[in-house]
Amino acid sequence: MVKPIENDVGSLPLAPRNPLPFRQRMNAIREYHTGQELLRETGGPVTRVTLGPKWLSAPIVWVTSPRGAHDVLGRKDTSCDRTLVHREMRHLMGDNLADLPNEPWLPRKRTLQPLFTKQRVRTFGGHMSQAAAMVADGWGDSTEVDLDAECRRLTMRALGRSVLGTDLDERADALAEPLRIALAHIADRGMRPVRAPRWLPTPARRRACAADATMHRLANDILQACRADPTRDAPLVHALIGATDPATGRALSDQDIGNDLIAFAAAGYDTTATTLAFALWALGHHRDLQDKIAEEAAGIGDRELTHADVPRLEYTVQVLHEALRLCPPVSVAGRTAMRDIEVDGYRVEAGSMVLIGIYAMHRDPALWENPLDFDPGRFTTENSNGRNRWQYLPFGGGPRSCIGDHFAMLEATLALGTIIRTTEIRSLDDDFPLAVPFTTVAAAPIPAHVCARN
Ligand code: HEM
Repeated sequence: MVKPIENDVGSLPLAPRNPLPFRQRMNAIREYHTGQELLRETGGPVTRVTLGPKWLSAPIVWVTSPRGAHDVLGRKDTSCDRTLVHREMRHLMGDNLADLPNEPWLPRKRTLQPLFTKQRVRTFGGHMSQAAAMVADGWGDSTEVDLDAECRRLTMRALGRSVLGTDLDERADALAEPLRIALAHIADRGMRPVRAPRWLPTPARRRACAADATMHRLANDILQACRADPTRDAPLVHALIGATDPATGRALSDQDIGNDLIAFAAAGYDTTATTLAFALWALGHHRDLQDKIAEEAAGIGDRELTHADVPRLEYTVQVLHEALRLCPPVSVAGRTAMRDIEVDGYRVEAGSMVLIGIYAMHRDPALWENPLDFDPGRFTTENSNGRNRWQYLPFGGGPRSCIGDHFAMLEATLALGTIIRTTEIRSLDDDFPLAVPFTTVAAAPIPAHVCARN
């Protein structure tokens, strides 16, 4: 049972300062994912990291306990709001569901949430089976591939169809590359202790603005095409056009819709591609686990997998949960404390940046048995019963958790089942190196030998 969040925090001890020397503290902050583990080991589950005087750089408080995660993410008031990274995103990409501060966010969430229920995502999800079959067919009988590049290709293909209702697979320039440039710029500025003023037209800023303009043109062209032709095959865009706030009846403006289409693509691309690449890489070291997935999918027959098959792909879903545990694409969820708040028994001062270390929690030996073993069996119903809901947060938690969770799981399940039922994978590297340009992605090609399954 989680205790309710306190209001009176004045008497609590301040979150303890992390004892690492300055340089190591700085490196740990930059190494978003593995850095969290070092900060927890040296400073405990709630640890305050300072990089300079408060007026220059806000204190950063890393939180890696389930109770602490609940105390921050579970808040329904305005005591924790968006971070500098979100503000940078809003400035570059406009108001979207992910970057809006809590107050203007609420009506947007009310309007969009009904479009992303398990039932509704079926109307625009489901393109993954075709995309995965096409990519796997292209591999032929036997070849070597980069799992990361292949998963990116198939995710962009399916996402383009699902979100924008258009084929983007041969047009990396239309979305993938602009997204990479824009998100890298946002993350870079959002995490710098000191940054150039926004009005300064640095080359990086010009590139980011041009990338954003390209994405907005694409989203707007599609939106106008859908308005002109209500029969155009783009169900999510049509659903956004028809969506209204249940409390006020207000519809979304064209600008809102364009911004959110880009946000959905941004939030869904790297994350889904990396989840799939990691799952395939892990399976590439476990022939027996691949056989279990293949058997499960074979029970369905030769036809294309659809959303209706997902309940029968139970083991495939467990494999994805385990991939999301060891490699959570969103390895950190950040908030700004708007007033002094209690986090796991400590006081966190107003103005602090509070970072929930999802990656470190997912690998904590105090929370998971043999945490580094890839063991999908952890996620059977029986083994999941009684687990603290706040120790496993691939899609976050609380009011601002992921709106695309059902959509992402549908897409990833169909892709994994489709690939593994026809293909055997042997991973050629022992490691899956990670980098965090914005979300957590593969830092290098992930080589694997793929061949047709007998
Ligand atoms: C495996 C894939 C995905 C993972 C691991 C993931 C993870 C997350 C996490 C952890 C958050 C919460 C961040 C926070 O608390 O600050 C989040 C938020 C969000 N995600 Fe996802 N996501 C995935 C796919 C998607 C997809 C496909 C979409 C597109 C529909 C999407 C749209 C969003 C949006 C719009 C938010 C902000 C929600 C809000 O603030 O109300 N995500 N995601």
